[in-house]
Amino acid sequence: MISPADTDHRFADPAVDTAPWWRQATVYQIYPRSFADADGDGLGDIRGIRSRVDYLAELGIDAVWLSPFYPSELADGGYDVADYRDVDPRLGTLADLDDLIAALHARGIKVVIDIVPNHTSDRHAWFREALAAGRGSAARERYLFREGSGPDGAEPPTDWTAAFGGSAWERVADGQWYLHSFAIEQPDLNWAHPEVRADFVHTLRFWSDRGVDGFRIDVAHMLTKDLSEPLPSAAELAAMPVDGTHPLLDRDDVHEVYAQWREVFDSYDPPRTAVAEAWVASDRVPKYASPESLGQSFNFDLLVADFDAAQFRDIVAHNIALAARSGSSSTWVLSNHDVFRHATRYGLIGLPATDEPGAVPRRHGGGWLEAGADQALLDRTAGERRARAASMFLLGLPGSAYLYQGEELGLHEVAEIAADERQDPTFERTNREQFGRDGCRVPLPWTAEGPSFGFGTNGAHLPQPAWFADHAADVEAHDPASTLSLYRRALALRHDLQAAEELTWVETHRADVLHFARPNGWQVVTNFGAEPYALPADAGRVVLSSAGDDGASTGVVPGETTVWLARD
Ligand code: NOJ
Repeated sequence: MISPADTDHRFADPAVDTAPWWRQATVYQIYPRSFADADGDGLGDIRGIRSRVDYLAELGIDAVWLSPFYPSELADGGYDVADYRDVDPRLGTLADLDDLIAALHARGIKVVIDIVPNHTSDRHAWFREALAAGRGSAARERYLFREGSGPDGAEPPTDWTAAFGGSAWERVADGQWYLHSFAIEQPDLNWAHPEVRADFVHTLRFWSDRGVDGFRIDVAHMLTKDLSEPLPSAAELAAMPVDGTHPLLDRDDVHEVYAQWREVFDSYDPPRTAVAEAWVASDRVPKYASPESLGQSFNFDLLVADFDAAQFRDIVAHNIALAARSGSSSTWVLSNHDVFRHATRYGLIGLPATDEPGAVPRRHGGGWLEAGADQALLDRTAGERRARAASMFLLGLPGSAYLYQGEELGLHEVAEIAADERQDPTFERTNREQFGRDGCRVPLPWTAEGPSFGFGTNGAHLPQPAWFADHAADVEAHDPASTLSLYRRALALRHDLQAAEELTWVETHRADVLHFARPNGWQVVTNFGAEPYALPADAGRVVLSSAGDDGASTGVVPGETTVWLARD
């Protein structure tokens, strides 16, 4: 068994071992305020993460991605950044972060951090300065201020809506309006401004100099905007093609920003990496993933797919082809801090498998929560079984796998959050019609007993349900059949078995069974259906099963199960 904790050698196959580290890395996303709380204030912190470095090393990941830990008023879970080059005092200090980076590096784990360049917090020094300086000032030029419409400018400049609901414009005391694509407390920056560009270069260097290995770029497709007058209406915007020329989205000129960042990344040894969070049409993804731009881009297709063989196969084939176009590696993700946990997505019964055509199913809590989170609609066991099968499918694919904290414990979405405890701005901005993303951000259960399930000593900032005890890390660590044990075995094997970034489909004669082979004989078979599937006689030895009976294969893959096979 090879894990980063045991040896410097990362992958058994030398061809894989000499490739840049990120190409086939397993990256574990930490949402710091909900991971572990060392100082007992109910909010996770940097020293909390530090205290769990052994856990991360034992899990066998290659990198952590830290969601924002910067000073923030938490209007959007930390994605409202008041200072890009500091740590929120509630989470610790820069010295704590240096210590964490050193501890992770000592265990062979790389560190990726979140950069949020589309908007700052309204507490950022620049925005305060812009408010104080008034209309027409140079300080306002760093943001997107406009005059209102209507006779006295009392109406917003346009009828655009923000991602969290309500108008995308907010009026300030002197009557001007500023654009905020997300929460009111997140004013959009003006990326045509040289100081904005220079400041982010400064930030990237600041963290690269501190030893950070890479960056996840928040809404990477939204930075540059064309707000020339007359501004289009929302209906006009919606009718415009998103082909590089759209006023707000996925503009070609955003890559000028990333070309400058690329020079920064490549000035370090090893080069710093980046991955784009870009919700763009798939034929536009290679632009972000190209080596001249950010180098890698998330593929979110599996986040919105059903547990369905045909959908999974199409997504894999399509994204491998896309990665080939940019020269990047593929990225795979089933859960993150913005979507329903995949155990719950796959366990919901009695709801339509997909939402309206064109809508993104079950993002931001759609469907089940709005239906009152009727527990009868959720089959927890089936959801976890399918999630395990889907995760083992994902971990066998060529490319990087992005995991979200708690999925290794088989956690479900938490529905039991009272209205006055909800934090996601979506909730209030949609007049409580959409519940938002709190249910996947509830602090982790580390122990079945004790205050806040071992998260901290003094409560948790979002309520943890009683059923968290069944998923506590201390219980799962000692249960060979647990989801945690499955992930640990899988990640250790993934290092052993990792092969060149290729995949060949093997015919199964079953529409609900997928079988693919990697170049070195590593094979993955997922039975998405209910009927058992008999493996071909020459398929190889079963080394892992999501059903938990590793090695004890009878040559049959049970329903809703993934097995890994190896050749001796
Ligand atoms: C994407 C992030 O993942 C999400 O959590 C955040 O609310 C928005 N960007 C705005 O920063």
